[in-house]
Amino acid sequence: MHGVRRPAAADLPRGVEYGRLNPSGDTVMTTAMFDRERSERFLRACRLQPVDRTPVWLMRQAGRYWPGYRALRERYSMLELLRTPELALEITLQPVHAFELDAAIVFSDILLLLDAVGMGLEFVQGEGPRLRHPVRDPDVIERWPDPDVRHTMAPTLDTIRAARRALEGWCPLIGFTGAPYTLALYAVEGRGSPDFQFAREWMAQHPEGTQRLLQRLAQWVGEYMRAQWEAGAQAIQIFDTWAAGLSVDQYFEWAGRWTRWAMDLADVHGRGPFIVFAGRSGHLLECLAKLQPDVVSVGSDIPLDIAWSRLGYGVAVQGNLDPSWLLRPPEELDAAVCDVLRRAGGRPGHIFNLGHGVPKETDPEQIRRLVTRVHTGFSVA
Ligand code: CP3
Repeated sequence: MHGVRRPAAADLPRGVEYGRLNPSGDTVMTTAMFDRERSERFLRACRLQPVDRTPVWLMRQAGRYWPGYRALRERYSMLELLRTPELALEITLQPVHAFELDAAIVFSDILLLLDAVGMGLEFVQGEGPRLRHPVRDPDVIERWPDPDVRHTMAPTLDTIRAARRALEGWCPLIGFTGAPYTLALYAVEGRGSPDFQFAREWMAQHPEGTQRLLQRLAQWVGEYMRAQWEAGAQAIQIFDTWAAGLSVDQYFEWAGRWTRWAMDLADVHGRGPFIVFAGRSGHLLECLAKLQPDVVSVGSDIPLDIAWSRLGYGVAVQGNLDPSWLLRPPEELDAAVCDVLRRAGGRPGHIFNLGHGVPKETDPEQIRRLVTRVHTGFSVA
């Protein structure tokens, strides 16, 4: 497609095989990449409409496996990257420049919303995120200011605006947020954890404080999603990674109810596609379907065909290659990609993705291979 705006300001050379890296590490692109089918594939699949090829994007596609990201991380702290729209924009665009991905996801982090009420987010080298002021006393929840998300989340909202302009005619932009329950676990635990045992115990001991915490978070999540739609996000994914630790009986009370609250506040059904992700959530699929999202992002703990039949074919599915296949030899990766495509069966409404994020040890060539395999769809036969 000619005459469509390019994704980067740089004047890119024509006639070069696309997707290749030039010696400076930037990607060179040709006008051949400006392709209307490609720019619409992801949004069409979210709406269960037929597409020319299965759309693909990857959770954590803008992350540490990518040398361009690592080079920026040597010069800037994680918080600097998150708070500087020019840098966040560059990271958002890097993977869609490098690979023929069908959607971009804004570079940000779910924990920024907690920082906005003064919890003191920091990223400790080798340890991941930490909050200097986690919730210990339930009374503190009442004292939190109501953050004006348009102000406190301005860097991410500005990144969304800039990314939309840069990606026009290229591919859609996905915004995201953490869900209230997953954010509440971090707010109490103060850091990542394999089981959030401390936070879960605290919640059991402070049922009223926990409900109040979830309610306040749901309010901000809802306002933040609304602000992201208004800034130009074309789809939003809500990450409730740790809801996977809840039983079916607990899910609605602790997690689903508050996600629903946030969805209503953001009026998600009047907007673009809304995607729900809840980690290894095979046991919760019926609960997730009840939220009536447009898309359920399925974890790798359940085969995709079984997941889809349980969700019902009125909802689109995203997923669900086990990320560890990216670390296996290329032929094994091919076979695993093929298996996911076979299970999706060419049915409209499948968006290819991983069951969780791209591992940081991944060779970028494996991403290139995966995207090509999904697009050629050789395996559907
Ligand atoms: O998907 C993308 O490419 C967009 C960017 C994105 C990041 N975090 C950037 C990031 C997204 C969608 C997230 C979501 C996120 N952040 C979740 C939900 C999804 C999931 O993985 O379960 C959670 C729980 C967080 C919180 C968080 N941020 C953790 C636990 C960590 C450390 C461990 C890890 O997975 O990296 C982060 C750091 C983080 N967020 C990095 C990036 C690129 C790595 C920072 C670095 O060290 O350079």
